[in-house]
Amino acid sequence: MDKSKLEALLKDMSLTEKIEQLVQLHGNFFGGGEKLTGPEAEFDLPEDFPYRTGSVLGERGAEKLHKLQDEIMAKQPHHIPAVFMTDVIHGYETAFPVPIAIGSSFDPKLAEELASAAALEASAAGIHVTFSPMVDVARDSRWGRCMESTGEDPWLNGQFAAAMVKGFQGDDYGKKGKVASCAKHFAAYGAVQSGRDYNVTEISERTLFEDYLPPYKAAVDAGVSMVMTAFNTIDRVPCTINKRLMRDILRKKWGFEGVLITDYGAINESIIHGASEDKKDAARKAIEAGCDVDMVTDCYARYLEELVNEGTVPESLVDEAVMRLLELKNRLGLFENPYKDGSDESEKKYCFCKEHRELSRKAAEECTVLLKNNGVLPLSGKEKIAIIGALADDKEITGTWALFACKEKTVTLKEAFEQLYPKADITYVISDSDTESAVSAAKAADVVILALGENENYTGESRSRADISLFKEQKELFSKVYEANKNIVTVLFGGRPLAVPDEAEKSAAMLEAWLPGSCGCYAVADILFGKVNPSGRLSMSMPYCSGQLPISYSAYSTGRPKPDGAKGFIPFLSNYMDVPNVPLYPFGHGLSYSDIEYSAVRLDKAEMTADDKITASVTVKNNGSMPAWEAVQLYIRDIKASVVRPMKQLKGLQKISLAPNEEKTVSFEISGEMLSFYDINMEFKPEKGKFTLWIGGSSLTENSADFELI
Ligand code: BGC
Repeated sequence: MDKSKLEALLKDMSLTEKIEQLVQLHGNFFGGGEKLTGPEAEFDLPEDFPYRTGSVLGERGAEKLHKLQDEIMAKQPHHIPAVFMTDVIHGYETAFPVPIAIGSSFDPKLAEELASAAALEASAAGIHVTFSPMVDVARDSRWGRCMESTGEDPWLNGQFAAAMVKGFQGDDYGKKGKVASCAKHFAAYGAVQSGRDYNVTEISERTLFEDYLPPYKAAVDAGVSMVMTAFNTIDRVPCTINKRLMRDILRKKWGFEGVLITDYGAINESIIHGASEDKKDAARKAIEAGCDVDMVTDCYARYLEELVNEGTVPESLVDEAVMRLLELKNRLGLFENPYKDGSDESEKKYCFCKEHRELSRKAAEECTVLLKNNGVLPLSGKEKIAIIGALADDKEITGTWALFACKEKTVTLKEAFEQLYPKADITYVISDSDTESAVSAAKAADVVILALGENENYTGESRSRADISLFKEQKELFSKVYEANKNIVTVLFGGRPLAVPDEAEKSAAMLEAWLPGSCGCYAVADILFGKVNPSGRLSMSMPYCSGQLPISYSAYSTGRPKPDGAKGFIPFLSNYMDVPNVPLYPFGHGLSYSDIEYSAVRLDKAEMTADDKITASVTVKNNGSMPAWEAVQLYIRDIKASVVRPMKQLKGLQKISLAPNEEKTVSFEISGEMLSFYDINMEFKPEKGKFTLWIGGSSLTENSADFELI
């Protein structure tokens, strides 16, 4: 449909009809599902109201949505199709590793491939929009939702955001197999104070612009079609009614023209925050701030019409919001084909298909991070092995936002070993509490694989924890097993970087498996047995304890820094008495079975102007006997500026493959843009002076070179 037809349609719609378009309700409002509870039971809406709304949340299935679409189109006065939106976060029926794991692949191309596969499955099931990617920068692993983020770094999250948008939408999300994508949660949801979900944020203007906003901007630049607001406040204003954030920054400054949707129930929450008087006031503030679609409140449904009729809200605000939604529907092709790709046949063909299950395994090969290895790994396959811990045979490692995953088919670690290595000599004790059996199995074994951490019920929305160490039972299990056998390989499951300093010190090897999705445990087994060379890198620092949080490699010097490499507490310097300043394992850390050698950094020149470029190169060699993948990372520091700059910032990344003995030259171009920052006047530009850059395999690399911006 061309724009003039959309405009004519809008013109022909009544105010009531337009407002109905802006309301999103979930499936239970259509009857037949679960009974409505809480505030939703109180929504005082006409009985057939749900059938006239513009979008529906959380429903899926080609046949079901086909029928629902027919009903909606029959009841909507202009027969406007609804758009079906839901959360397809890390896969649809095939679950891929959770986003924090995908971030740890350090491979945005992989993220694109996974998003594309998820789009194929979801679109076949009749879904039009996914509420993904979640791009919130997460530096506090107390926050359960760090699981949904690709990590702590603004630049890296931006790379992943762009890649996922591309994977979901392709170059045209109206095409077959594609869905429209919604970046969330705007903004700075990852900065909730004390890591407690839904809490306030306290961030300076500079930190907001420099550390938190860039990934959303990257999603917008990549053409994301929707943005979702966040539950938190920024500078004491709830994001959902934050005009400056949405009208000034998102729309005006960044030029975002897509649909802005609130998070679930968020307009109403502005009343509970104490920022809106009542539902009517909340509706006014939200529409004025730029929210187009109201997700599951009755604020727009009940009060927007009154607000327009009494002249408080100009109808033009409603019109522009409806137009954006109509444009989304139009780009999805819904006016021509309201079911888009939903078909029983495609659903059967693509959902949980062999190709996607293989992709789930391949993804986990890249996402699993080898944190420590004293040489015990890889296993030869000849050892007598004891696999201990409840998580070794728990299907709840599929991942929190795998809403539609075939969970019953998720492969556990035990199943992976049994299927892939049936001849291995393995005794299983699938329990955290049966220490007696664990100890006797450990005593009889050459090596113990201890599966510890959290299953999916301990991470995700609202799952904040103040103490992020292992559960008491698991700590006891570890100690008892350690007394019986010191050759422990700890496999950590979970959606957050846990604090495990003692277990890390005592383990011979430690592997971060995250929540690896449908077939990820095959990858974990293959890594343990050396069939696959690990290549994951932490995209979020692993702290020693909660007291270090929030933490990031991209920290600032104080006026009293602790000298590099200094150990123990030093009075009157900036350090803790009980733990180091640095995390247990930093951002970018991850080991390989190969010895990867970096040459010194070479610069083609030592000076540049802001319009010029310097090429920085290294030669990277695989001295090992296995093929390897290496995440070559570029970090830069601005030594002195008008405001204090971070000690290191990731500015470039290339994930390369290296055959045994192969060497490759990896080059990065340093541009003026890369050196830019918000200066003392909040102007984004570079300042002349000295810089240091590093190229290496982790944020701890010391492989550096200096240059000057003249
Ligand atoms: C979450 C969003 C999600 C929405 C819809 C909310 O509770 O915060 O991330 O997209 O629900 O399911």
